[in-house]
Amino acid sequence: MGNAAEQLGPLSIEQIEVRIRSCPRLPSLGSINSALRELLNADQRYTSQVAEVIRRDPSLTARLLRMVNSVYYSLSAPVNSIEEAVFYLGIRQIRQLVMVTPVIEDFQKLAGDTPFRWREFWQHCIGTAILTREVLGSVYAPTDEVDYVAGLVHDVGKIVMASAFPEHFRRLHQVRPAGPQDSRECERALVGMDHTELGALYLQNHKLPDVLIDVARYHHEPERASHNAQIVAAVQLANLLVRHAQIGVSGDAGAVSEEQCLSASGWGILFPNQSDSERAIARATLQRSLDRLPTILEGLL
Ligand SMILES: [Fe+2]
Ligand SMILES: [Fe+2]
Repeated sequence: MGNAAEQLGPLSIEQIEVRIRSCPRLPSLGSINSALRELLNADQRYTSQVAEVIRRDPSLTARLLRMVNSVYYSLSAPVNSIEEAVFYLGIRQIRQLVMVTPVIEDFQKLAGDTPFRWREFWQHCIGTAILTREVLGSVYAPTDEVDYVAGLVHDVGKIVMASAFPEHFRRLHQVRPAGPQDSRECERALVGMDHTELGALYLQNHKLPDVLIDVARYHHEPERASHNAQIVAAVQLANLLVRHAQIGVSGDAGAVSEEQCLSASGWGILFPNQSDSERAIARATLQRSLDRLPTILEGLL
């Protein structure tokens, strides 16, 4: 890291892959880490309570699913439910997971105080997860929580970038003017890869379910997803709506306009035969969910 500042520039695919393979453990948020420790030390606790806390943390969720899917690789279908994962692994293994998970506030100090608002970024992730569920719920009744998990980890590439490319991450969030330019273009110019591809590669490396990889990779352009297009589209819309309502901080530059929300490609994927007025009604329903979000999030972190 010593003279990294001078040589900071876009990396080759090979260099990026090496860094992703040796990516340090993704850090969790301090308040969640302590809530979880407290719960795990309590005389009595339920699987559902533990899952409820992990559900508020994209890093812990990704690491939990990685753990369960590597231990139970022989299960017929990969585990993508948090509660199921907690149940399979048991309290002892969860305790171990929490013990070795770094806390993002400590990590931030190490990284030289990147001016990045992690708590608000966590709100962005949880908000997107909750809204993804609402969006999909108007298309079909979800039978598992993969839609929520997908929304939660959609931007995991940003945490990967902060962990495996700390100098680049710092530079990206220090010098970027608050203009309307495309954040992913900035990431590609500086790092050599944007957060969508970084996240997808990370999840792929850890053998997480394909649907999560697709969401990480295509959530800004669901029309490119050849599988899981509905979930990817729901995450795109949720992400835009949450950003438009200025709930949390996504780390992307620029505000999202109402027009951008309404013209997003995800609508056509989820509601192929919908008229403009039907779209406006769906949008109004989602607005009610959006209005409730800040209060829900306030109590969670
Ligand atoms: Fe994103
Ligand atoms: Fe996002």
